[in-house]
Amino acid sequence: MKLAVLAGDGIGPEIVGQALKVLRALAQDGLKIELEEAPFGGAGFDAHGDPLPEATLKLARAADAVLCGAVGGPKYDALPRAQRPEQGILRIRKELGLFANLRPAVLYPELVGASTLKPEIVSGLDLMIVRELTGDIYFGEPRGRRQNASGAREGFDTMLYSEPEIRRIAEIGFQAAMKRRKKLCSVDKENVLETSRLWREVVNEVGKNHREVELSHMYVDNAAMQLVRNPRQFDVIVTGNMFGDILSDEASMLTGSIGMLPSASLDARSKGLYEPSHGSAPDIAGKNLANPLATILSTAMMLRYTFSKDEWAYRIEAAVKDVLAQGYRTADIHEAGSRKVGTSEMGDAVVAAL
Ligand code: IPM
Ligand code: MG
Repeated sequence: MKLAVLAGDGIGPEIVGQALKVLRALAQDGLKIELEEAPFGGAGFDAHGDPLPEATLKLARAADAVLCGAVGGPKYDALPRAQRPEQGILRIRKELGLFANLRPAVLYPELVGASTLKPEIVSGLDLMIVRELTGDIYFGEPRGRRQNASGAREGFDTMLYSEPEIRRIAEIGFQAAMKRRKKLCSVDKENVLETSRLWREVVNEVGKNHREVELSHMYVDNAAMQLVRNPRQFDVIVTGNMFGDILSDEASMLTGSIGMLPSASLDARSKGLYEPSHGSAPDIAGKNLANPLATILSTAMMLRYTFSKDEWAYRIEAAVKDVLAQGYRTADIHEAGSRKVGTSEMGDAVVAAL
């Protein structure tokens, strides 16, 4: 198994460092994995003037899976769009055809107090957002800036989905639901957008081949509300790139901390890029404060989805549950009475639990 490791910026190197500790520990137990690191995001720009340097893309293409930390930071905010770190992640998704983004939001019982919602609303929460990742307003053309007839500046983007793009992500949504509680909620803005009208039509068509799954539709504004009103009504949510971006951040907070949430971005053959759902947190970078569990849990998703090594994935997940049960907490999930630890101590605790 060949893994490209793109630590990126901010807390990226620290949290990826902990995930690598975990993989090395498993390697000692017989997991056969080769790692190679390359600069990416702001670090790619610093090294080669490009957030996705040619050599990094080549390595990612040759690998079976990619592990990413996070990208971005204030240092790069003033760069032109093409050179910004975020462009690195958007391009690698597109170049590798990683159209299916799986973002589970699971509340660990030990962390129920860390959620901003009442325990009776969130305890037992276990939902999965399936976000389309290579289309929509993120990539639609034309886009740009211009002056209108009266000389005012205008900015414009194009929200666009083609039928095959909708079909394949809907298919992933139904498959995910089949492995879970067999409920799929497709989120759109069909009352306003043409894109969403097509989206709903195609999802309904795909649903005809998946009658066992209970399919529902929801407008995105209502979905945003329902996620905080009664989040346990959801099993799998399937939605477009931008709505999924927004709703997945919202869903993450239900679980206490975005620092707990892994993600997988898959192509049609389950090659994947794995990264925490959170960003590069420049304010705490280098301070040994970041929560490495989202990245560690992302390696579990990698073993499950790309390598079909469920047992190894389960071992990592069990070790994470174990350290939480032992009371270890990074600052983001710390509560009175728990054992507050830093990034690297948390990594060590997971290795010990393994
Ligand atoms: C995410 C992030 C990215 C996105 C940014 C960094 C481009 O917010 O993965 O959710 O919008 O997709
Ligand atoms: Mg986001």
